[in-house]
Amino acid sequence: LGQTIYYQESIDSTQKKAHQLAYDNCPEGTLVIAEEQTSGRGRMTRSWHSPKYSGIWMSIILRPNLPPQQAPQFTLLAAVAVVQALEEVCGLNPEIKWPNDILINGKKVTGILTELQAESDKINSIIIGIGMNVNSKQEDFPEELQKIATSVAIEKGKIVSRSSIIQKILEKLELYYHLYMEKGFGPIKLLWEGYAISIGREIIARTITGTIEGKAIGITNDGVLKIEDSSGRIHEIYSADIEIQGN
Ligand code: BTN
Repeated sequence: LGQTIYYQESIDSTQKKAHQLAYDNCPEGTLVIAEEQTSGRGRMTRSWHSPKYSGIWMSIILRPNLPPQQAPQFTLLAAVAVVQALEEVCGLNPEIKWPNDILINGKKVTGILTELQAESDKINSIIIGIGMNVNSKQEDFPEELQKIATSVAIEKGKIVSRSSIIQKILEKLELYYHLYMEKGFGPIKLLWEGYAISIGREIIARTITGTIEGKAIGITNDGVLKIEDSSGRIHEIYSADIEIQGN
């Protein structure tokens, strides 16, 4: 991965660029990376704060020969790669909040956005967007993020090299991509569960169609979250914002 790199000092969104490149049949593993995004995108139509030089804003294009239903598994695969990169390069102990928020001490340090280009029953490209706050100081975050966001530097108490983290993320993504293609989702699911904080907890899941309260009891083999409500009914959630209760 990362043999072909598309680098720009300033870009609207690496994710948007990656979609274009994928559509134009760029090589698998193409990395789109920028120092700054002027309209970074988050999950659920939110924007993503991506100031110059202080974070990692990148998108990677994969082309697994798989049915589109398996795409959510790549979100979890990417989360495992990012967590391990932060452990190994920075000595931090991040946790994952389903599906793919990476938290340190309860605050978000990285967001992952996995998107798909598919043709009928086959994945054409999976675009994995990773946004990591690396060297921002707490006061650099806009007010609405102050309480919920953190950076690698805040947690480490010193400035950290972005390139060493980028390298390690790519190395881990490649490792787990190969493992996935050889052995399927099972080993990735186990690793992911080892880092997950939401499983076994009472949560509120806000989806576009409504809110579900209950206990997060696990993920399915597709990477979908299972919630058991107070009447014992099991809900499968594909996309939502999760609030963990009792914090
Ligand atoms: C989230 O909402 O948690 C996901 C945030 C993903 C942000 C990254 S930054 C690189 C890539 N380009 C974008 O426009 N978004 C993703």
